[in-house]
Amino acid sequence: MSAPRPEPALVPRPTKAAFRSGHFTFDRTTTLRVDPGAEPAADLLRTLLAPATGLPLRPSPQGQVVFALDPQLSGLGEEGYGLTVAPHAVLLRAGHPTGLLRGVQTIRQLLPPEALSDRPRRPGRWELPCAEITDKPRHPWRGAMLDVARHFQPASFLRRYVDLLALHKLNVLHLHLTDDQGWRMPVAAYPRLTEIGGHRAESMVGPAGSATYDGVPHGGSYTRAELAGLVAYAQARGVTVMPEIEMPGHVRAALAAHPELGAHPARQLDVWTGWGVCDTVLAVHEDHVLDFCTTVLGEVMDVFPSPYIHVGGDECPTTEWARSPAARARAAAEGLPDTDALHGWFLGRIGAFLTAHGRRPTGWAESGGELPGDFTVITWREPAHALRAVRRGHAVVSAHYRATYLDYAQSDDPAEPPAQPGAVVDLRAVHAHDPVADDSRTPAAGQVLGAQAQLWTEFVTTPDHVEYLTYPRLCALADRTWTGPTDWSDFLARLGPHTERLDALGVRHRPSHRSGEEAS
Ligand code: ACM
Repeated sequence: MSAPRPEPALVPRPTKAAFRSGHFTFDRTTTLRVDPGAEPAADLLRTLLAPATGLPLRPSPQGQVVFALDPQLSGLGEEGYGLTVAPHAVLLRAGHPTGLLRGVQTIRQLLPPEALSDRPRRPGRWELPCAEITDKPRHPWRGAMLDVARHFQPASFLRRYVDLLALHKLNVLHLHLTDDQGWRMPVAAYPRLTEIGGHRAESMVGPAGSATYDGVPHGGSYTRAELAGLVAYAQARGVTVMPEIEMPGHVRAALAAHPELGAHPARQLDVWTGWGVCDTVLAVHEDHVLDFCTTVLGEVMDVFPSPYIHVGGDECPTTEWARSPAARARAAAEGLPDTDALHGWFLGRIGAFLTAHGRRPTGWAESGGELPGDFTVITWREPAHALRAVRRGHAVVSAHYRATYLDYAQSDDPAEPPAQPGAVVDLRAVHAHDPVADDSRTPAAGQVLGAQAQLWTEFVTTPDHVEYLTYPRLCALADRTWTGPTDWSDFLARLGPHTERLDALGVRHRPSHRSGEEAS
């Protein structure tokens, strides 16, 4: 191979890449040599390229495109891979099957953007530039949370969301399945959770505290088959779906379905129509409430093989417990200092249940200091909370709201669509976010697993709106969490051409040049 060439604009940027003149051409005669264990990656490449290119990419022992598991690349970890593109051959190798899936996404990005389209594009030759790439992620947790409780989204859209995560080498879809305003996860033992808890009469218009409602019923829930199908679809793309079932707060929809889970069993609540923090919570001091939670989580574990199971834990007012003689008696009997301590005590029991079933309990950290020690914590309020949680021994995922909450607008332009009021999270803030806070010298920095974006959907009703708020900001998160710190102008220079890929995929996104103009 000869002289270096300008780098194709990959997002995220590979750890090491050299591009050379010349190209490999995919056409109807191209075949794949698939070594044992590499079949899922070969299948994925075929599946992803079929709609636009129609290429059969048949298997053959003489295939020019080789997919191989190679123990010599184990040093690149679960997700690392090596890719060599020469004029007459392509070699994709990895130590683990997941690394091959990441390499497939790189091949996709090296092809012309039209190759990503879901419609037939010009038939014929598809060129891949000659390259030598060695790549592995900086952080093992690179995720996005989607809130399908405030506004339900169909399973077909979730599959598309997963496809777009995988394109950017993101590996966790955190699905926020339950909240005050809706319960979307079917539970066979408690069908009312979705029958009653899956529907609300209307929705607040405007931010929390508003007195205006839209009068429009909203509802929806998934079938078990849809969720199992989503898990399999994501697995084939190397993405883990982590379910979140909120407790002991953010449970108004569950209380509407089952008043006996609350402080006042005779009280009939509605599925909440407002936004904000709701003060009706689970009566955690009652043993039957713990039984309810473990039964639900048992079904959740049946559907979701994710090692991490998220149980919320955030924004839980304790006033109902303080007023309840039964809660006070339980707190005293358990040797707790007050009813506030029932929060950690209850989550400790839930965590022990999940741990006994081989899963890792996961929760939102309010301060970094309040969740039981076996919890993996997602810190969202302050960067300092991540460090506090690390010092307490937690594994931590950084979700600082000022850098990763995509429900905030991307700019202060009044023409932006409705968003969470109170802050702007622009592209540059996401790109600059350091998951390890400022203290990577602490030995415990390795406990920081990575970072994820959050999309709460109080003000986000349609798939188009979800995508607009997600892109291109999620591209910046992908770069940051896969590659590590990259130069802002280098990122912007790659984002321009990368936008052609988003366009080929029909992704609704904020024009990336606008973000560049505002922040440069
Ligand atoms: C959160 O934003 N309540 C985690």
